[in-house]
Amino acid sequence: MAEPKPARDCSDLSDFTFSWLLSYDDKLGLANVLAIIGLFYVAKVSVGLFFRVLTGLRIYIFSQLTRRTDFAVKYGGRWAVITGASEGIGKAFACELARHGMNVVLMSRSSQKLEKVAETIEKEHKVGTLVISVDFSRQDVYPQICNALDGLEIGILVNNVGVMYEYPQYFLDVPEKKLFDLVNVNMLSAIMSGAIINLSSSAGELPTPQMAVYAATKEFIDNFSRALAYEYSFHGVEIQSLRPFYVATAMAYGTKPSIAVPSAETYVKHALQTLGLSRRNTGYWSHSVQGWFQGFCPEWLWMWGASLLNDQIRYKVLRSRKH
Ligand SMILES: NC(=O)c1ccc[n+]([C@@H]2O[C@H](COP(=O)([O-])OP(=O)(O)OC[C@H]3O[C@@H](n4cnc5c(N)ncnc54)[C@H](OP(=O)(O)O)[C@@H]3O)[C@@H](O)[C@H]2O)c1
Repeated sequence: MAEPKPARDCSDLSDFTFSWLLSYDDKLGLANVLAIIGLFYVAKVSVGLFFRVLTGLRIYIFSQLTRRTDFAVKYGGRWAVITGASEGIGKAFACELARHGMNVVLMSRSSQKLEKVAETIEKEHKVGTLVISVDFSRQDVYPQICNALDGLEIGILVNNVGVMYEYPQYFLDVPEKKLFDLVNVNMLSAIMSGAIINLSSSAGELPTPQMAVYAATKEFIDNFSRALAYEYSFHGVEIQSLRPFYVATAMAYGTKPSIAVPSAETYVKHALQTLGLSRRNTGYWSHSVQGWFQGFCPEWLWMWGASLLNDQIRYKVLRSRKH
């Protein structure tokens, strides 16, 4: 007669789980149980990847081939307002929206630069322009903006204005004025029918050392946009959060355009095609690939890599200033 098995001690949870697996081993085999768990995991990752690729193709590739949206009709206004429109991504948004037949309101501090952009846009795209010179680091500018925009049928607002540190810095080294500018310009300017595009950044996806306040303000924009998008979707307002990685503008410390770092024009051409298709994306296909890899990156590795890169940028900027 077979000896009865000794009773296992299941006094704590891990002992219990272990003994449960062992008892299953008798019937199914431990290897089979682990294979089933592995199969579920592979299926989950594969299905996730499949839908990610499908969404990427839909918003970045097919939309470029098939979509020609009349933004003025879709968003109920012929005017688009772009903050930070004298340079970089904002200027590219202004030109691209004008190419789609929208009149554009251009805002930044420098009226001279804005006038130049407005002149080019009027000449090339035969649309109306309005220039508003405004400093978003001041909190008393909003009544002036409301007065200037009074009576315009605004379909799209691009909350693009943003400032960064002059070079990557540790928190306590950032001048106090810059800290206030970061909060006022990056965050307050976005709290104000149609569609709203908010420029967030992938710098906020994981904590980024030496850009701590910048990345935090960008994460605020993303979180804020997502909640607002839900609240106002019932009123027909579309709110989109764009989360680019590096785009080759002044803010990217003179990085040359490449597949990984598109020019502002290339970036905006792609990003605008995602409006109405996706409430939150990077705006550019290769940035989404970077985001996918970032998703696999443990936080410590990201912070170590970002810190190393930011050390190099700071060294490069400070050295170029000495010469
Ligand atoms: N470039 C990137 O790699 C990158 C990556 C992720 C996210 N983003 C985000 O994309 C947005 C645009 O970035 P960008 O690279 O195009 O920047 P940029 O080239 O430095 O341009 C910034 C624009 O903002 C205006 N501006 C700056 N401070 C202002 C203030 N106090 N009041 C009014 N206007 C002000 C500037 O014009 P004036 O000097 O004439 O005022 C300029 O038109 C930002 O929100 C940024 O955080 C950029």
